[in-house]
Amino acid sequence: MKKTILTMAVITTMFVACKSSKPADTTSTKPTETTKPKMDCGNPEPTYANDIKLIMANNCLKCHGEGGKGGYNLGDVNDVKRAGANGDLVGVVKWSPGYAKMPARAAKLDDATIAKIECWVKGGMKI
Ligand code: HEC
Repeated sequence: MKKTILTMAVITTMFVACKSSKPADTTSTKPTETTKPKMDCGNPEPTYANDIKLIMANNCLKCHGEGGKGGYNLGDVNDVKRAGANGDLVGVVKWSPGYAKMPARAAKLDDATIAKIECWVKGGMKI
């Protein structure tokens, strides 16, 4: 019985919190199963070797090679991870406010590709 009341209280709190919450805190990486928007990360999860390297090569390297634009050499895994960790990578491909829109002078990447990049970053940028 106590458990039921507790559960109810938790659900109510979550509901109220949801209702009054400001836009999602993008700096938080805390995975909360109940509130996390459903994102299809595929199976297996994206890795640098299997997915990200090719996405960069096909869409980004012509401007972001050595001495690349915006200070990123996206042919270098360390630079890709740096952009992932500081938010630039996901920000630019999602055309988020405050970020340059990438790939520059080209169409936005398709949703599946953007999801892969985002999943990769959120999943800890596995090599
Ligand atoms: C046609 C050339 C071109 C392509 C293709 C391109 N970029 Fe860029 N990128 C730029 C330029 C120029 C800048 C720096 C100037 C600016 O801020 O617009 C830049 C800046 C950036 C930055 C720095 C963020 C910032 O706000 O300054 C990141 C991160 C980035 N690009 C990622 C990417 C990724 C990821 C791709 C592939 C999906 C990509 N770029 C494709 C030209 C390009």
